[in-house]
Amino acid sequence: MAKATARRSPPTTIESSRDRERLKTVVFPEHSDLAARVAERIVEVIQRETQAKGKVVLGLATGSTPLGVYEELIRLHQAGDVDFSHVITFNLDEYYPMSPDSPHSYHRYMWENFFAHVNIAKHNVHIPEGVTPRERVTDACAAYEAAIRAAGGIDFQLLGIGKTGHVGFNEPGSDAASRTRIVTLDTLTRKDAAADFFGVENVPREAITMGVATILDAKEIALLATGEHKAGIVARAVEGDISTDVAATFLQRHPSVTCYLDLPAAAELTRIKTPWILEGIDWTPAMVERAVVWLAERSTKAVLKLSAREYAENQLSPLLARAGSAGPINGQVFNRLREKIRGRAKLPAHERVLVFSPHPDDDVISMGGILRKLWENENQMVVLDTSAVQRARATVNAGMEQKAPGEIDIPVVQNLKKFIRESEAIAALAAVGIPASSARFLDLPFYQTGEVRKRPLSEEDIAIVLRLIDETRPDLVFVAGDLSDPHGTHRTCKAAVEAALARYQGGKPEVWLYRGAWQEWSLTEADVLVPLSQDELHAKILAIFRHQSQKDTAPFPGYDEREFWQRVEARNLETAARADRLGLPEYYAMEAYVIQRV
Ligand code: PGA
Repeated sequence: MAKATARRSPPTTIESSRDRERLKTVVFPEHSDLAARVAERIVEVIQRETQAKGKVVLGLATGSTPLGVYEELIRLHQAGDVDFSHVITFNLDEYYPMSPDSPHSYHRYMWENFFAHVNIAKHNVHIPEGVTPRERVTDACAAYEAAIRAAGGIDFQLLGIGKTGHVGFNEPGSDAASRTRIVTLDTLTRKDAAADFFGVENVPREAITMGVATILDAKEIALLATGEHKAGIVARAVEGDISTDVAATFLQRHPSVTCYLDLPAAAELTRIKTPWILEGIDWTPAMVERAVVWLAERSTKAVLKLSAREYAENQLSPLLARAGSAGPINGQVFNRLREKIRGRAKLPAHERVLVFSPHPDDDVISMGGILRKLWENENQMVVLDTSAVQRARATVNAGMEQKAPGEIDIPVVQNLKKFIRESEAIAALAAVGIPASSARFLDLPFYQTGEVRKRPLSEEDIAIVLRLIDETRPDLVFVAGDLSDPHGTHRTCKAAVEAALARYQGGKPEVWLYRGAWQEWSLTEADVLVPLSQDELHAKILAIFRHQSQKDTAPFPGYDEREFWQRVEARNLETAARADRLGLPEYYAMEAYVIQRV
């Protein structure tokens, strides 16, 4: 078998002290490097084991996290670099009950996202059956365990991690000796799946999953986590005590586990969050700011009131020693924070501004405040909804056919929905002062109209975005930097814009990343803080209200049951309150933006 082609230089990883870590972790600043590295490792295992024993057994996972790994394995296979004919697979889990044909089944996920594109033999694929009659489930689970043993055990197990800390569907309460069995899903897990099922009430209550002991029998384990929404549970799994409350902590007993993390998912690890308490570090201005804000919040004091004693008592003597006393450091951080605050007078004026909105409402949810100020500053604005919102081409007289939750709409209904959301987007922009002529609607192919799972980014997507950038020649571009949305749409949209900008021949615009729908940038992450008055926040909320079809029950509420406007209000108020507690001017509310470094 051919060796895997070396496609790129080795991925960059973050190296630092791992004193607190009980699992080996590798942190990738570049999200795409993570999938490439894991796929590379899987190919190595396939080649090693097939050479040694003529076959290899992989334990596989579903969910959004491993999709990039499957894409990369398919690519390597198509390039002739990996052969799956001797690969045997066992999937971790399946919902119960669940028909294999359902769009939600893990059978369908695995075939659509991976197996159909490689030369794996159907009889080598094993996935727990969601259609086994209940009285036979126990026997079927025992047979699944026996099949793994008969195959010689799992050589390499791929794992994701849920917000409950589950691996497979081993929810809190699962013990180290658990084997393949039927389990009741945790409420949080069901809420996380609600987006895919169009409502939590449609998510199955049970699942069949390999047990913790089944997973720990694998010879090598890779735990993958990406996105800021995983940061808390990753830190608990990696640094916390072993407990049945968090099944992933049992991995600490395994001799060969690697956690592959992107930077947002690693953000709560001590070595990333507060590296100064572990080792001597490079005190860049950004690191000094993070340390001092951390110290101020820990001591519940304003930055300018921090004393040498606080520095010394909180392991920050090395920083103190650099300046000799607290005053200069406090002053440096205070000024840095204050300079981030940019009201209208300090925001761009008379420039060309291009805003990419992955969904019709992300623009006003995340940047409803700055939009108005940019318009007032006489910038030339183009607000671009990249989702498949296009004009209704058909008259809606076919009637609304019945569909089960989560099934795909018939085209006429899709068109009607697009028309509604487009009209709402225009009305919402008008509410923050932006005229309808500034709103544009792109139909990027990756959205795969009407389906929950989106297509991977294609050349066509990039070409469409590039054409628009060529046409508008922006000085400033806004892109969603919120990577934890349930369907990965924001991540794909950002990748499309980045790829298009890399090819753009004109002058490179500055790129500002916004968040808002799911999380907000923290004060220390942010480069720009835009203060909002009470009236401005109110106008922004009214703009969000214009997205009537998303109100009352947001179709994709994730785990946060508040409506989008409530989350936005709380976040914008909190950012301002936090600045106030640090001793900065007391603003009513604030939006936060990160300027992308290239
Ligand atoms: P996700 O799911 O990859 O979709 O985040 C992971 C899991 O729940 O195990």
